[in-house]
Amino acid sequence: MRIEPFQLERWMTTYETQVRYDIAESGILPLTTADLLGFEPPATRADVMTHITGMQLGYSEARGSLELRTLLAETYQNCTPDNILVTTGAIEANFLLFHMLLNPGDHIIAPYPAYQQLYSVPRAIGCDVSMWRLRPEKQFCYDLAELETMVTPRTRLIVVNSPHNPTGAMLTAEEFQRIYQLADSVGAYVLSDEAYRWLEVPGGTPFAPPMYNMGPLGLSVGTLSKPFGLPGLRIGWIAGPAELVQACWGMRDYVTLSPGKINDALAVLALKHRERVFERNRAIIAANLECATRWIEQHSTVVSWLPPRGGLLALLRYSFAMPSYELANRLAEQYSVMLAPGAAFGFENYLRIGIGQEPAIFAEGLARTSQCFADLEVGSPGD
Ligand SMILES: Cc1ncc(COP(=O)(O)O)c(C=O)c1O
Repeated sequence: MRIEPFQLERWMTTYETQVRYDIAESGILPLTTADLLGFEPPATRADVMTHITGMQLGYSEARGSLELRTLLAETYQNCTPDNILVTTGAIEANFLLFHMLLNPGDHIIAPYPAYQQLYSVPRAIGCDVSMWRLRPEKQFCYDLAELETMVTPRTRLIVVNSPHNPTGAMLTAEEFQRIYQLADSVGAYVLSDEAYRWLEVPGGTPFAPPMYNMGPLGLSVGTLSKPFGLPGLRIGWIAGPAELVQACWGMRDYVTLSPGKINDALAVLALKHRERVFERNRAIIAANLECATRWIEQHSTVVSWLPPRGGLLALLRYSFAMPSYELANRLAEQYSVMLAPGAAFGFENYLRIGIGQEPAIFAEGLARTSQCFADLEVGSPGD
């Protein structure tokens, strides 16, 4: 299989271990094991700690433990543990689904810009990929009227991602329903990458129910990476019809086989305490959103954005003449700040920002970006 380089990942890996102020990250500030144990009531905390630290570091049940799949299934309607396959992050969930559902020559529709996996893997399989564009002149909204013109009797799959990486766009419950109906009218599946599920933004768009709930052609992909701040556990999942989940499991036997036992156990702990995790997320998101809004007001002559309507990500448009890779490299190398180049998503003169970072780091990252702008003589705080 020939596959295009994953542009954003190539760029992120160059700097992510060197840069102090990473405000490009797509997830919420990671939790520690101590944070997770701290969510446990005092009466049971010591027992849970003994359970976790005494656990043999073996393989978990291949599909993910029954306890974990049960907890995940409870977050959907009409869902049993047999409808869930635990995977190595959402990235493996998407990869398995593409490979189980698609053949060379199949027509699929994928969003653009996007998390590159969502169109590059189908392309590598040999599919005919139509790009459903989120356009800056339309405030990066998903245009349902445009989708209607793209669906054909040959369409095998519609891919959506809401909240959307990198624009922060959202699909409403009515739009989810309409997409499902369109797919159903030609017998296509809908793969809904819900990596940013549960990440609500103040003043944003209310979340639609997961695509799985819409019916047997609805497939939801989830992860603990973004909303739980647990990317290192590499725990994602597929929620879908039992036969398809079973088929994906069959393919996974050849790739990663099973989750790690301790990762599975920590995932169970995180899901049990998810209201506590989401409370923490809300405080981080509110602080960073306010800080970013103020900063953009101060730099309104050179920077603008559409704040995320859900999730953590948005594109910053800048008005001065410098390619985004050059600006992002300069920020990383000279100011120790990571803001991702828009060109990695096919959008020049944009940088992608994430509002999930620790608020003091986030504020300092923006202050250093101001310094970079001032040094480039394109604007300074208060301009
Ligand atoms: C839209 C989207 N899907 C999937 C993933 C993969 O997430 P993970 O494999 O960490 O669960 C990402 C990561 O950035 C993403 O942005």
